[in-house]
Amino acid sequence: MAIERTFSILKPDATRRNLTGAINAKIEEAGLRIIAQKRVHMTLAQAQTFYGVHKDRSFFGELVEQMTAAPLVVQVLEGENAIKRYRDVMGATNPANADAGTIRKTFALSIGENSVHGSDAPETAAVEIAQWFSGNEIVG
Ligand code: CMP
Repeated sequence: MAIERTFSILKPDATRRNLTGAINAKIEEAGLRIIAQKRVHMTLAQAQTFYGVHKDRSFFGELVEQMTAAPLVVQVLEGENAIKRYRDVMGATNPANADAGTIRKTFALSIGENSVHGSDAPETAAVEIAQWFSGNEIVG
């Protein structure tokens, strides 16, 4: 199986409730390694760029507002099939539909404040990682 890297965000609703360590424990229990991590406060421009694919969706304004409201944690995760593995650990976007034991079922507040983001494909993982980390910040 291929060793992959994926991009992760622990969102403001999670950092505000002091859940960084609890979510990282679920990530590591799933066999993913946190090979880069930093706490940042996203600017409006950064959030609009990061979620540009959703710019025409009805929830875009609320999404950008939530992502810039407080600090968050950006990460690079590495492991076998890391992209799918992390999405499995995160659970469905809407926590009401997420499986028991997933991060979103356990911690998320709503579809908007859903605690974590993970890349959905190798191409987006590469773009998202490059947006937040330089090569020497990633130590695998
Ligand atoms: P994320 O995986 O970061 O990708 C887009 C985000 O938009 C999503 O998680 C949610 O936090 C947010 N969002 C808010 N409303 C919706 C919705 N109705 N459908 C999908 N995503 C939504």
